[in-house]
Amino acid sequence: MFAPRLPRLGTGTAWRDAARRLAHVPPSEVDWGWEDAGPSMFDAPLPEPRDFSVPKPFVSLAKLLVSERSGRGFTLAHTLLHRLARERALLSNRADPQVAEAERIAKEIRRDLHKMHAFVRFREMPGQGARRRFAAWFEPDHRIEEAVADFFVNRFGDMDWAIVTPEVTTTFEDGTLSQRAVPATRPDDGDPLEELWTTYYSNIFNPARLKVDAMRAEMPRKYWRNLPEARAIPSLIAGARGRVASMQAAAPRPARARPEEDAMPMDLFANAGSLDEVRSAARGCTLCPLYADATQTVFGEGPQDAPVMIVGEQPGDREDLAGRPFVGPAGQLFDEVAVKAGLDRGKCYVTNSVKHFKFVQKGKRRIHQKPNAGEVRACTTWLEQELTLVDPKVVVAMGATALHALTGAGQGILKRRGTVERTHDGRPVLITVHPSYLLRLPDPELRAAETERFRADLARVPELLDS
Ligand code: URA
Repeated sequence: MFAPRLPRLGTGTAWRDAARRLAHVPPSEVDWGWEDAGPSMFDAPLPEPRDFSVPKPFVSLAKLLVSERSGRGFTLAHTLLHRLARERALLSNRADPQVAEAERIAKEIRRDLHKMHAFVRFREMPGQGARRRFAAWFEPDHRIEEAVADFFVNRFGDMDWAIVTPEVTTTFEDGTLSQRAVPATRPDDGDPLEELWTTYYSNIFNPARLKVDAMRAEMPRKYWRNLPEARAIPSLIAGARGRVASMQAAAPRPARARPEEDAMPMDLFANAGSLDEVRSAARGCTLCPLYADATQTVFGEGPQDAPVMIVGEQPGDREDLAGRPFVGPAGQLFDEVAVKAGLDRGKCYVTNSVKHFKFVQKGKRRIHQKPNAGEVRACTTWLEQELTLVDPKVVVAMGATALHALTGAGQGILKRRGTVERTHDGRPVLITVHPSYLLRLPDPELRAAETERFRADLARVPELLDS
């Protein structure tokens, strides 16, 4: 009997290595388990690895299964692997009970990943460095911390952050991602900032960055006794010196803009059970510099159970003043055409990819500017939460910015319009042009023709809802 025990971090690689040795061994002779669940009664050395190939869908499936908390995922992945040697088309047989169980677990893991993408709430930590620092507490159902790390690096590569879970602390500092399997307890609800910051400092402290003088300058000694993080400093200084590892120093992207001195640190800790809670957290958003000149955050509006979500680019001048999306000229045109297409705006959730107005001032006029990729990326934090909470059956992307925010690629809208693609989390996205494109067309005939095409695009929504 073989009993591979898999580590909490590096699980995927360790499973793959063991699986290469055990693919030919019947699953009944293997007792898979997590290292931290304790040793097994059996511990025969694993056979030598053998080379073999597996279909691509199996690789993706196994990646998900190894995050399963109970360890059942290891066994299931091995069972499928063993059977694949003789049944190459096994995975397409959804009626097979083991394939069905693997698919069910994979779906559960995907849902957990999505929840973590959407619901991690960062809270800004005080500090004076060039890069802003955030920390978050999250409790995933499964052991997905490794699987989600790249998502947060891509999304928040321009700031330093720590995500602390009960079992793993992930940090991203100066462009370096690190993960450590350290137990942590949920921060006190009374003051999550204090607890988290202490955890951040003591668990993920990077000794290569320890510059005692700079630290004292940033945080003068007289404040230490009042600051939670300062509690950890003396022991950190004492223990750090021998542990310095060579670390990548350069940040991969420019630092995210620091808000004005008087701006409050951002609190993304809202308990996002409802749209109202997310909306109120978004009011204080400083994730990109656009908040500084805009009048207010213009959040989405509409029923939380709307079956259709309409996504535009960003609020314009009128929306910025009113605090509501699509109330200016583009919104009026949308409303008019939507009625002709059989869409009731009151039953849709209407929102934007970017929630602050971007403009340049020309005399008394504020001229709209297209948001850049960083601004769109920062704001998907909100859009994803809207998607998760509203959970629409169909999403309509109006214009290239919405298309980019929803699918990751905004090019070629005129070729893609009228077609249906998928959001990052697998929902159908109907692609169409932005109503302001129609307003800008100088030729009345072309404008009429394009407006009719816009109507025809929107008219597909009821059909998609029924499918
Ligand atoms: N354009 C948009 O994309 N959204 C609005 O809310 C208004 C104009």
